[in-house]
Amino acid sequence: MKVGISSDHGGCEMKEAIKKHFGDIDWVDYGCHSTESVDYPEFAQKLCKAVLNKKIEKGITLCGTGIGASLAANRFHGIRAALCHDEFTAEMCRKHNDANVLVMGGRVVAEPLALKMVKIFFSTEFEGGRHQRRVEAIENSEVGTP
Ligand code: RB5
Repeated sequence: MKVGISSDHGGCEMKEAIKKHFGDIDWVDYGCHSTESVDYPEFAQKLCKAVLNKKIEKGITLCGTGIGASLAANRFHGIRAALCHDEFTAEMCRKHNDANVLVMGGRVVAEPLALKMVKIFFSTEFEGGRHQRRVEAIENSEVGTP
């Protein structure tokens, strides 16, 4: 399974730590590649487009807080980007929300926790059932329509 990962400068060190720790995963790295200041939407968007184009199945994107990256990612229909801060949210975003993008704040979570969250995210299945209906309601919604 090819898995995507991206970050801005605020998440770059965590991105590299994740890739190094999970060396057996076939990562596709959509940048950035240094801690020089960049704009997070570009890197979140590259990753989301790759998911929607089926170049990768799932992905991780990071920025300093994770907030900007999740805002950018969730503009795409078909992207369910979950900003997670702990093991519980990493588990539930898969079980209940069928999240296909994990978002974390490189300046928010400590590295050992982030690594645990990545493991949980990729090993937890969507439960379906009543949650399927709710996910479909999100996907079928008209953007910008009240
Ligand atoms: C960059 O300084 C910072 O604003 C960014 O990484 C992120 O936290 C935005 O939401």
